[in-house]
Amino acid sequence: MPRLVVTNREGETSEISVDEGLTVMEAIRDNGFDELLALCGGCCSCATCHVHVDPAFVDKLPKMSEDEDDLLESSDHREPTSRLSCQVPLTAALDGLHITIAPED
Ligand code: FES
Repeated sequence: MPRLVVTNREGETSEISVDEGLTVMEAIRDNGFDELLALCGGCCSCATCHVHVDPAFVDKLPKMSEDEDDLLESSDHREPTSRLSCQVPLTAALDGLHITIAPED
């Protein structure tokens, strides 16, 4: 089971173990982090699942689609490490992935 390290908007960090194949968004939502709204349920149309990824992992993530890029462009909190967490499936290669929930837009 890959481990996911999550820092919430208060700056508190915790580690969860996640079934392989879930997306980062599903893992966060299913583990009680209610600040990640994920309003569209993961179909890449809301941007309320925005996270900042530890730079050490950025190159291991799947390539960003044009839709994801466009949605992130609408955020005031976009950074070079920004991703929509519903577009990132957790795999063994991402064990220990550290993400920070982005501020609300
Ligand atoms: S949950 Fe809506 S874009 Fe990710």
